[in-house]
Amino acid sequence: MAFVLLFIPLLFSSALAYSCQSYTIPLKNISAPSFELSFEIKNQWDITDWTVNEARRDSATAFNGIAGPSSVVGDFDISARFCTPSNATELAQAVLVMTHGLGADKTYWDPTFEGGDKYSLLHAAVSTGYSVFHYDRLGTGNSTKADPHTVVQFPVQVEILASLTRLLLQPNSTYTMDVSIKSAVHFGHSYGSYITAALASAHPELTQAISLSGYSGVFDFFNILIAGWQSRVAALLDPARWGHLPHGYVTPVDLHADSYLEFKAPYFDHRVAEWGFSVKSPYAVGELATLGQTPYDTTNFTKPVQASLCVYQGRYDLSACGGNCDGVLNRTALLWPQANPLDISGTFPAGHSVNLHFNSSLAFAAMLDFVRKNT
Ligand SMILES: *[C@@H]1O[C@H](CO)[C@@H](O)[C@H](O)[C@H]1NC(C)=O
Ligand SMILES: *[C@@H]1O[C@H](CO)[C@@H](O)[C@H](O)[C@H]1NC(C)=O
Ligand SMILES: *[C@@H]1O[C@H](CO)[C@@H](O)[C@H](O)[C@H]1NC(C)=O
Ligand SMILES: *[C@@H]1O[C@H](CO)[C@@H](O)[C@H](O)[C@H]1NC(C)=O
Ligand SMILES: *[C@@H]1O[C@H](CO)[C@@H](O)[C@H](O)[C@H]1NC(C)=O
Ligand SMILES: *[C@@H]1O[C@H](CO)[C@@H](O)[C@H](O)[C@H]1NC(C)=O
Ligand SMILES: *[C@@H]1O[C@H](CO)[C@@H](O)[C@H](O)[C@H]1NC(C)=O
Repeated sequence: MAFVLLFIPLLFSSALAYSCQSYTIPLKNISAPSFELSFEIKNQWDITDWTVNEARRDSATAFNGIAGPSSVVGDFDISARFCTPSNATELAQAVLVMTHGLGADKTYWDPTFEGGDKYSLLHAAVSTGYSVFHYDRLGTGNSTKADPHTVVQFPVQVEILASLTRLLLQPNSTYTMDVSIKSAVHFGHSYGSYITAALASAHPELTQAISLSGYSGVFDFFNILIAGWQSRVAALLDPARWGHLPHGYVTPVDLHADSYLEFKAPYFDHRVAEWGFSVKSPYAVGELATLGQTPYDTTNFTKPVQASLCVYQGRYDLSACGGNCDGVLNRTALLWPQANPLDISGTFPAGHSVNLHFNSSLAFAAMLDFVRKNT
């Protein structure tokens, strides 16, 4: 059962028109492995000490935050949106499924501020002829705010993406505005790229190709991210906005701590960073704690992969490359030895949130060109 919230045809010019449908998808009985955590975030002292533990130079061996294996089974409501060109060609039968990163929600792919079209991969994709599906990951936006320690973890996010993809691909899907979807291509940004990579590993039959940004597959630089992002308990930081959230939902302390991760000057507009901060969606500590603990192996994935991360885009990506992607790239290539083709090329002037930098349109053209050539 889909709860249809709105159905808006958008007119941008006589040549371009597309329609979107927003809905809540009730997923039932999603099961996944999970972890018991060895820590609990109750207040700002706890998250500060967690930051120290995660940021220390030997955190890889000294602290992993995991007490043991567990499993999770749950029903989750996922807030999502499907868009398709009004004047559809066969291209519209391919859906680009977009998974956002930590601290964001689905608007990363289609920014909501005045003039945001320039920064919208969704807009670029429907203009090219594709259908697009984007959603709020579990724990973000308007999706279920499940327990941030025990439930909102990496493996369940992967299974949710798999379930959503199956719903889009099923014949006569109620989620595709009567477009008969024949194939899915998966896009990820940052944490969403890791989820996408894990989907490609666990469920390769569900995807035709993947495009990853804000991603290197190399975890060596996460301590720089965590040290500078300065997370705080969201409910205590801004009770009016987030007082209803359990304390394991955390968020960067201010605009500048957030920009430290997401942006690189002089390649962005400060007003875009301000918008990004204004739509921050707190992330669950269970997500970061379990990312590096979940084994998945991408070495057998034989479909097209675009790891348009370090050199192609986000050359100055902080969390993926430690702020300088030169020389990190070939370690990424080793993770995808059978990808065919593996597309990693160029240099791109941007920080981590590549879609929100000045040259986003060049990145979008390269991403969509990759899809067109390889599907
Ligand atoms: C839930 O899923 C599990 C396997 O993932 C299955 O064994 C069980 O029967 C399902 N329960 C319901 C109510 O569908
Ligand atoms: C739809 O696309 C066809 C073929 O590309 C074109 O001839 C037609 O004018 C388009 N219609 C509208 C309303 O844009
Ligand atoms: C969540 O729902 C509210 C109320 O309908 C809406 O204003 C807001 O844009 C939605 N946010 C997202 C990320 O979909
Ligand atoms: C999908 O809809 C078509 C046309 O309404 C119908 O012929 C077909 O049987 C349906 N397929 C499934 C799997 O429900
Ligand atoms: C990859 O494929 C090889 C050869 O078929 C197989 O031995 C190996 O177990 C596979 N690895 C994974 C992670 O599936
Ligand atoms: C990786 O890239 C660096 C810088 O481009 C280069 O110096 C190095 O030889 C490469 N290493 C491998 C294993 O290809
Ligand atoms: C790329 O960014 C530079 C500024 O960093 C700007 O001068 C140039 O116009 C941009 N190009 C495109 C195509 O966006």
